[in-house]
Amino acid sequence: MGDAVSTRRSAAALAEPVQAGRTSGRFITFEGGEGTGKSTQAASLARRLESLGIGVLLTREPGGSPGAEIIRHVLLSGAAKPFGPEAEAMLFAAAREDHIKCAIKPALEAGQWVVCDRFADSTRVYQGAVGAVDPRLIKALERVSVGDLKPDLTFILDVPVKTGLTRAAGRRRGSQPDRFEAEQLEFHEKLRRAYLALAEAEPERCVVIDARASKKEVAERVWNAVNARLEPANDRVARTAVVP
Ligand code: TYD
Repeated sequence: MGDAVSTRRSAAALAEPVQAGRTSGRFITFEGGEGTGKSTQAASLARRLESLGIGVLLTREPGGSPGAEIIRHVLLSGAAKPFGPEAEAMLFAAAREDHIKCAIKPALEAGQWVVCDRFADSTRVYQGAVGAVDPRLIKALERVSVGDLKPDLTFILDVPVKTGLTRAAGRRRGSQPDRFEAEQLEFHEKLRRAYLALAEAEPERCVVIDARASKKEVAERVWNAVNARLEPANDRVARTAVVP
């Protein structure tokens, strides 16, 4: 594996210009409302990429680094809710900044692919579109926490709200819903519409996947889109092909 990784790096260095401190890694994010199956699909994609010999960091937000995991607890327990959506947006951004610095950037710079369950679009949608935080604050926070690190590809998993909430409740098996799962139906309907609008606004980056199908079928759709947009299989062949 060590040889394969260094091979990929040197080949990639020839093939791709270094952008914003990145060499060869690709950055893929999964987004969507509650119970859309993001975590399952992110893990499944990571396994499939790994089976091609590609180094992968599978991670999630809020969290993904020790500092960001502490902030995750503050946010999802509802402890920050009394301070309002602006303060929550700032905390999500602080967690993201740490996650990028400690996990995402180092992985991309080492040539790994990063598969992340939620990223900045979640703040745009949950705190911005639905929480009504001023778009100027959302933009400013994104500029400070994310800079020019844009995902290469974002999957927006879409299911009807009731289906998603039923799935999320099944997954919890009787434990309490978290801060955001506990919101009213209208909140979740707004989330869904906001994600679809976001996908429409950025079609070059976002792919909407109808996630009502079986896990296997959804994974296949995700894989087809990754191949169509980022061509990991060809990339791998091309990279190994230049080995002396
Ligand atoms: P999590 O337990 O990771 O669940 P999910 O499977 O829905 O991702 O909970 C993360 C929650 O935090 C989720 O309800 C969405 C919310 N969230 C935001 O409101 N803003 C953000 O920027 C992020 C990353 C998450």
